[in-house]
Amino acid sequence: MSKTPKIQICNGEACTQASTQKYVHEWCLEYFNEDEIGTCSCLGLCHDNYAILYKGKAHSIFAGKSLERIVG
Ligand code: FES
Repeated sequence: MSKTPKIQICNGEACTQASTQKYVHEWCLEYFNEDEIGTCSCLGLCHDNYAILYKGKAHSIFAGKSLERIVG
């Protein structure tokens, strides 16, 4: 049985084309274990290209510090 991820990184077309997920994933690893990080489809924040889903809410993060404010 798969575990529900605690945080999900957008893997929609715009975020994928911007190649931002690798940075978002690195930032997420500062707060979550690898098995707590999942992916999700487009969150409607394509203009930012750093979209995550956390506790049912979509956010754009531009630096690890922004993620700290969301999950800290
Ligand atoms: S593709 Fe990531 S928010 Fe739309």
